[in-house]
Amino acid sequence: MHLLSFLLALVCCLSCSHGRSELDMLRVAFSNVEKDTIDGEVSLESGEIPHWLNGTFIRHSCGVFGETESDLNSPLVNYVDHLFDCLEMGTSFKFEDGKVSFYNRYYDTNHVDIFNAYNQNRNESKVFWKTILAELDVEQNTNLRENITAGPKEAMIDHVTWWRIGDRVAAYSEGAKGFLMDIHNVEYNGRTDNKDTIMGYPMGTMFVSNPAHPHIDPDDTVWSACLTYVPVGPSGVYSSRYTIYTIVDETRSVVGEITLGEVDLSVCAGDGESYLDLDHRQGYMHSFAMTENYIILPTSAYLYDPCVVSENYRPELPFFKASFKWYDEHDSILYVVRRSDGQLVASIPTTAFFVIHQLNAYEQDGSIYVDTLLYANADLYTYNMHLEQIFEDIPYETYVERFTIDMEDWTLVSRTQLRNPAPAALEMSNINHEYYNGKPYEWASMAENIFEKRFLIILDARSMEVIAHVTAPDLALAGLHNNFFPAHVGHG
Ligand SMILES: [Fe+2]
Repeated sequence: MHLLSFLLALVCCLSCSHGRSELDMLRVAFSNVEKDTIDGEVSLESGEIPHWLNGTFIRHSCGVFGETESDLNSPLVNYVDHLFDCLEMGTSFKFEDGKVSFYNRYYDTNHVDIFNAYNQNRNESKVFWKTILAELDVEQNTNLRENITAGPKEAMIDHVTWWRIGDRVAAYSEGAKGFLMDIHNVEYNGRTDNKDTIMGYPMGTMFVSNPAHPHIDPDDTVWSACLTYVPVGPSGVYSSRYTIYTIVDETRSVVGEITLGEVDLSVCAGDGESYLDLDHRQGYMHSFAMTENYIILPTSAYLYDPCVVSENYRPELPFFKASFKWYDEHDSILYVVRRSDGQLVASIPTTAFFVIHQLNAYEQDGSIYVDTLLYANADLYTYNMHLEQIFEDIPYETYVERFTIDMEDWTLVSRTQLRNPAPAALEMSNINHEYYNGKPYEWASMAENIFEKRFLIILDARSMEVIAHVTAPDLALAGLHNNFFPAHVGHG
């Protein structure tokens, strides 16, 4: 059987609840892992582990949410109340010659050291770091700042997604640098290297957000993008841009730019008022689309506020709450950039959307098709992914939507639903990227209700029959992305 003819999946387990309520299971999924498990023995529930399957299925999972079984309305900030902000760990299933073993490993970071110094008691340690969207304890953050930033350890390991860069694998969030990993032993091995100097931009350039998901060409060229502020003219004046860049041989090169205009931070009053010129503010992007010849940036109406880098920096707020704001009435824009020369060929405004993940995009018969998981606003981040809503089983509404762009006049022909009935609670889309990224395709996978307890199954992707079903020897908590990498890559 070919390596690509299988699917590894962490799947919902409600039917295996043995009488436990959904809420009980969710509380387990958002609890705490007490110890590392290294090379742990798994239980083979059914089937057989294929001998041809060699590599590691690794995921960013959570190790600690804190006191989630206590009163969630308590003023004590003793648990992490958003999925993005847990104390991270690496969880993996390693496949070797018909055997599979399980790893749950906390990384050697300052955050973990501080948590252990408080005897793993979140009532005492509180949520002490600057979070993305979870409530934090500002006083504790101030008290522990030196411990958090002390060298030589990392404060934390970014734990959103995985990039393969050549034969190396790095953990990324939405920052410009990655954390190289020995994924087969779940160990951190230093930051990614960049031979370029801030991509050739002048000193003082700021990269404020970078989509978590790159695209990788067959020759291993990595394509990515970032929201960039380039200093121009007098102090405090920046050119607001989207930068499209590649990574080849550890060198990042700018291949295209979309310039929105200049922002003058001297107008920021420091009273919490956001930058008023919305047209010069970039829209949030967690991912983007790529076809054979074009990059498509689907920029949302969740706009970055440049005043945050000057007068409006608010340490008491999580990063996203301070930095991004949703605007119902502000169009989202699809930017289409030609890959061969980086030229912007179309800027297509459309009704405001929020998008996290793409399915795929491709060119066919004079049209570009861009298939996305779309939302009417940013509530999935700012509301639904908070534990209070997860525990209440508050539904979220995903639209699996296709944008059709006419390549003759570069207009948006239509926005249509690919899945009915719509909306439905879907996320974490995937395709067979190695074969079909940027090309016409037939099949994609999505997870329904992403917050439930999980185990691992191996599926034959042609028949969808279960090849094997295994259970780990310890908890694997909720978390974000996972990937399978073959044995010859990802050694640090
Ligand atoms: Fe993602």
